[in-house]
Amino acid sequence: MGTLMRQYWLPGLLSREVPEPDSDPRRIMLLGEQLIAFRDTNGKVGLIQNNCPHRGASLFFGRNEEAGLRCVYHGWKFDVTGRCIDMPNEPAESDFKSKVKAVAYPTSERGGIVWVYMGPRAETELPPLPDLEGNMLDESQSGIGIFQRECNWMQALEGDIDTAHVGFLHQGAISADSVPADSWAKYALSDRAPRFKVLDIDGGVTYGTYRPANPGNTYWRVAHFLFPFYTMVAAGVLGLKVAVRAWVPIDDDHCFGLSMSKLGTQGRRRGGAGDNLVDAPLRPDSTDWYGRFRFEADARNDYMIDRQKQRSLQSYTGIPSVSLEDHAVTETMGPIYDRTQERLGSSDAMIIRTRRRLIGAAVALRDRGTLPPAVDDPAAYRLRSGGVVLPADADWTTATRSLQEAFVDHPELGLEVLAGVPAV
Ligand code: FES
Ligand SMILES: [Fe+2]
Repeated sequence: MGTLMRQYWLPGLLSREVPEPDSDPRRIMLLGEQLIAFRDTNGKVGLIQNNCPHRGASLFFGRNEEAGLRCVYHGWKFDVTGRCIDMPNEPAESDFKSKVKAVAYPTSERGGIVWVYMGPRAETELPPLPDLEGNMLDESQSGIGIFQRECNWMQALEGDIDTAHVGFLHQGAISADSVPADSWAKYALSDRAPRFKVLDIDGGVTYGTYRPANPGNTYWRVAHFLFPFYTMVAAGVLGLKVAVRAWVPIDDDHCFGLSMSKLGTQGRRRGGAGDNLVDAPLRPDSTDWYGRFRFEADARNDYMIDRQKQRSLQSYTGIPSVSLEDHAVTETMGPIYDRTQERLGSSDAMIIRTRRRLIGAAVALRDRGTLPPAVDDPAAYRLRSGGVVLPADADWTTATRSLQEAFVDHPELGLEVLAGVPAV
């Protein structure tokens, strides 16, 4: 699966983690590989192997100066492409430095994200960045949320394409009687067992779940998985919401959830962590490989569960936020859950299809060299997700086609259908 991931550009870190030329190098682990990120004097971001090619000292301690990162052990210096540009401990007449190259990956910055290409293509033949609307907004409109999760990326991702848990984990304490008639929450809470329709699309898998709405209508929730690890979840209003989440593998047992969205389009309460749009406090970052974007609440403190709140139904879980609820249920499966122990039902149809699609693509790449979906098709990412009410006899795919298109304004749509109930 790592070979498959390397076909794509990966959102590897935030631009602000390497804020200015010659700022401090950062430890960044991606796909289990230890790398050092630095922004050079010219503003270009480098992502270079941790161990110096000379004798292995960590380049984290390097001097970031004059358009390169200089190892403090013997002074070898590397530019953002990994070229060795100075070797001051060798005689001046030596050309040894021209023979030394560090592993370094091409980067590209867009929308506050440093994208990284860790794949096999030459610099002149790199694939295009995916047309993810949430990453292509004006700075004034764009919001980034990032947190680390201590489990496998796929286990975390599966929570995003499992809309049936919302009526329990996040909204189990809200009764259908307590929300306004004809609100979408009313439909969702009156029927907590949605039916699923799942289908393959160019860039991944789409699903629609449906339940009765007001007479003659059906409430649909449309959401996507996109290769290799993106989700567009079903919360919010289809056509209005602009949001995507990447589940980026740090290694097999750690990932980060990175959401890129248009501010004010999600109908969701946010706050608590400055310019990082997450809904629970984070610990201060450390420089450790796993030291970035960790919630204060985690397995070590039982996600700060409040049993009194759980018992009194102030909240279904007693766990203090939506993200932490998701965090608790997916992390406590263990780092990589043994899927042979599962008993999947009809509401797991999207998870089943997505696993098949991913495994099929990875096997096709390994056995036949088939390029996985959408590597060279940025338009496959031009999608939106969310809820919609349709006539009961409408075909959901054709009826929602234009609403699923990214980069289209829909001034006729508004958040009032959510009736103030946070969309999750
Ligand atoms: S180990 Fe880096 S220069 Fe010697
Ligand atoms: Fe959730």
